Amino acid sequence: MDFAIRSDNPEKYRSDCIVVGVFEPRKLTEAARVLDEAGKGHLGRIVDQGDMDGKPNTTLLLHGISGIDSKRVLLVGLGKEEEFGEKVFLDAVRTTFKALQPTGVKDVGLYLTELTVKGRDIAWNVLQTVILAEESAYRFDRLKSKPDGRQPSLAKVDIGITDTFTATAVETALQQGLAIAHGMKVTKDLGNLAPNICTPSYLAGQAEEMARTFSLKFSVLEEKDMEELGMGALLAVARGSHQPAKLIVLEYHGGKDSEKPVALVGKGVTFDAGGISLKPAAEMDEMKYDMGGAASVFGTLTAVAELKLPINVIGVIPTTENLPGGNATKPGDVVTSLSGQTIEILNTDAEGRLILCDALAYTERYDPEVVVDIATLTGACVVALGHVVSGVMGNDEPLVQELLQAGEQTYDRAWHLPLFDEYQEQLKSNFADTANIGSRWGGAITAACFLSRFTRKFRWAHLDIAGTAWKSGKEKGATGRPVPLLTQFLISRANKH
Ligand code: BES
Ligand code: MN
Ligand code: ZN
Repeated sequence: MDFAIRSDNPEKYRSDCIVVGVFEPRKLTEAARVLDEAGKGHLGRIVDQGDMDGKPNTTLLLHGISGIDSKRVLLVGLGKEEEFGEKVFLDAVRTTFKALQPTGVKDVGLYLTELTVKGRDIAWNVLQTVILAEESAYRFDRLKSKPDGRQPSLAKVDIGITDTFTATAVETALQQGLAIAHGMKVTKDLGNLAPNICTPSYLAGQAEEMARTFSLKFSVLEEKDMEELGMGALLAVARGSHQPAKLIVLEYHGGKDSEKPVALVGKGVTFDAGGISLKPAAEMDEMKYDMGGAASVFGTLTAVAELKLPINVIGVIPTTENLPGGNATKPGDVVTSLSGQTIEILNTDAEGRLILCDALAYTERYDPEVVVDIATLTGACVVALGHVVSGVMGNDEPLVQELLQAGEQTYDRAWHLPLFDEYQEQLKSNFADTANIGSRWGGAITAACFLSRFTRKFRWAHLDIAGTAWKSGKEKGATGRPVPLLTQFLISRANKH
């Protein structure tokens, strides 16, 4: 999809469709008013008639209004003006693209973006609009023998911004929005791909291809390398699978040689059946997205490389399947991790932390400035926070704040959970240094506690994205989160230099 910023007034503008807003009750926005004048009061009459009250999530499509050069006008309800905040704005933009979907509109002039959203500036509106436009056009139909449904016709979005003061900020927001949207698409495609195709080897192949496209450094550890290094925890998870595990490393070099890298470590379980601690059958298919953390590292690196950020970033991706089998790890098995700590595996379904603990310990040798791991780690995090925010925990308060802030800025929000020492007690084992699970309570936190035992040598934070990386139900599929958060986190870091 093509995007451009246009500074002409809506009435001068010629397109397949012009989109303007209506506040509740029946109040035209400024752009709508200007358009109404050109259309000799047609819009005003329709609104007065009661055909468009301005209620949120409503639209009215009008055709061939004399005096208006565009073929159509789409009126979008915005709710009460004094309540016009982030959620209503985002819903209105989403509703707009949805309403355009069944039409033949190819190019649209959007005049919602310059509305004042409480607490936000126009650059933010632009960034969100670009992300939502790309999202509305997203389809995952490569595994269907023929694409079903109508293919989206929308190819060009002109964002009307009549205030020229903000031109550079708006242009930057447009570029960042595009990069984030592209990154999200990469993340969604990988998450949606069937787990018989998206295996650890497939991810390694994708990483290699990405390295070629963006001139990244690529390396991969095979199982025999892991054995030599002593990655007993990662290997323990891989034992039940016939697919070989991999540890992929991608290095993006945009900063000075002397600058330490930011490390992103993404959980890459391409299918989590639970192992011997087998999961129930219902919705088990969704465990193909247990590589959502890994996918978000791919997506974020794509965005960072597209934006050519002056920063060094490395992506570390431990990837394996977690399956039962005659050779699989059993509850009670004790393994030695790369860090030297021994782990009693009491539940083979708590596998994410096992592959991450070795990947985190391995990351140490890249001498990172900070380390952020991203993982669909616990059902407990979904119970605690639902699908709205990701969980964030860490051993460094400023780093946690940076991530929270980046999430707030991009509306890809996260919430800080406590990592108090009291929770550590749950991980005591009678037979090894650490157990891999705690009790039933505070499961998202005890998972992070486990990881904290392998990250003592650097500043570290953990994002639990079990609730945010995926949508269940009718619109089942990957969301592309937390690519906006992570990309913004790196943009902000790059800006600080
Ligand atoms: N991949 C799951 C976590 C998960 C659950 C992600 C639901 C998305 C939706 C993880 O490997 C897991 O199975 N965690 C267990 C941990 C438990 C055994 C301590 C869980 O959350 O039940
Ligand atoms: Mn599991
Ligand atoms: Zn898992």
